[in-house]
This record gives sequence, C-alpha cells and structure tokens, in this order.
Amino acid sequence: MNLVFLGPPGAGKGTQAAVVSQTLKIPHISTGDMFRKAMREGTPTGLKAKAYIDNGQLVPDSVTIEMVAERLAEADCANGYLLDGFPRNLDQAKALEGISKLTAVVDIAVADEKLIARLSGRRVCPKCGGTYHITKLADEKVCPDCGGELIQRDDDNPATIANRLSVYHAQTSPLTEYYAGKGILKQVDGALQMEEVTSQILNALAE
Ligand code: AP5
Ligand code: MG
Repeated sequence: MNLVFLGPPGAGKGTQAAVVSQTLKIPHISTGDMFRKAMREGTPTGLKAKAYIDNGQLVPDSVTIEMVAERLAEADCANGYLLDGFPRNLDQAKALEGISKLTAVVDIAVADEKLIARLSGRRVCPKCGGTYHITKLADEKVCPDCGGELIQRDDDNPATIANRLSVYHAQTSPLTEYYAGKGILKQVDGALQMEEVTSQILNALAE
C-alpha cells in the first residue's frame, strides 16, 4: 500500500503512522522527522530547512521534493510506504504523482482549539523517537518507553504553532478536496481516543 496521512499540525499523523506502519509492515516516512534529523546533523538540507521550520513555513519544494523522491527510491519502499507530512501543497502532490501511484490518502481531522493544546503539551524523546503528551506522562521529563530525557520541539511554541496552522489552512487543506476528487480520500475523526483513531484508519483502509 502506498499511503499518505494528511492533517493539520498536531492531528496525530506521527502518532498514528507509527502504529499503522508497523501493522502494515511498510516504512513510516515523515518529512518533518527527516528535516529535524538533517538539522541535528548540520547537512546542507538541514541548513536550508532551518529558518523555514523555525518560522512554521513550508521548506521550499525544490528541497523537499528531491528529498522525498530519493527516499521513495530506496529498497524498503518497494512494497509500499506511509508518507506523513508530504505532500503539503498542490505542487508536491503533482510531483508525487510523477514518482509513484497512491493507494489511499487518510485525512485525520481535528479542530484548531484542540490542536493548540496538543502541540503545546507535546513532548518527544530524541533517544527512541517516541511522542507523548504531558497529560499522560507521570514525569514530563522522562521517556516512559526508554528512560531518555524528553524535550519540547523548537517549533511547538505559540507563535510558530499559529504560523503552522495558518500555513496548513492556506496551502495543505485544499489537498483533501483534490484527493476526494480522485476517489482515494479516507476521512477519520482525529479527535477520538488514539486507539479509536487507529481502528478507524485500519477499517477505512480495509474497505
Ligand atoms: P512536521 O514534523 O510534519 O509537523 P506538523 O505537520 O506540524 O505535524 P506535527 O508533527 O506537529 O503533528 P502530528 O500530526 O504528527 O501530531 P502528533 O502525532 O505528534 O513538520 C514540521 C515542519 O517541517 C513544517 O512546519 C515545515 O516547516 C517542515 N516540513 C515538513 N514536511 C514538509 C513538506 N512536505 N513541505 C515543506 N515543509 C515541510 O501528535 C501531537 C500531540 O497530540 C502529541 O502530544 C500526541 O501525544 C497527542 N495526540 C495524538 N493523537 C491524539 C489523540 N487521538 N488524542 C489525544 N492526544 C493525541
Ligand atoms: Mg508529526
């Protein structure tokens, strides 16, 4: 299956993709995670991306599309993949069509008020890659899975969250209509409990 998870910042794309990619045995490809890794390593891609990410803007298509095309050409994508955070505008969607044929696009919908609470309370573990929320953590600083030190993402501050939401509404949300028109859109309610969202996604993909 060649899948895309669409949805606003904080909808749960990464949380759901981690589970669904394991269930379906396909690689989870998050462009946000790829950029953050590139920034930590100080690669040319990371250096180009940093100012955009810090500001909540999209990294230019010239950088992003090439990075994704190279990743999809790797051997582990031969039997399918789950893209999380790509495409994010119409030009990226059209570029993806030139590279690969999609099976389905899952749109995870959540209202803005909920997203702000989710993003401002998110904690991530740089050691194991886990994503958590302070409301479910016994200790905000300690990873419940590996004991590593939890941190807050640099772009999870109020000003950058506001920019990310407006970029989503202006540039990314039109993709739901675009993929609905192609007959491959599956919509799920991302405001439900995590396990219920996972069930909705797996049921929609089994249809
Ligand atoms: P990216 O890393 O993709 O960030 P994003 O789209 O803003 O999405 P998030 O990762 O913030 O949210 P998510 O939907 O994954 O939610 P999560 O599962 O963590 O992109 C970052 C930046 O990189 C962009 O701003 C841009 O600059 C650049 N970039 C990336 N891709 C690009 C592209 N294609 N083109 C150009 N630039 C690009 O969950 C959030 C929180 O909610 C967590 O705390 C979690 O525990 C909690 N939660 C999840 N599900 C539930 C639930 N059901 N109920 C309650 N809480 C929940
Ligand atoms: Mg994510």
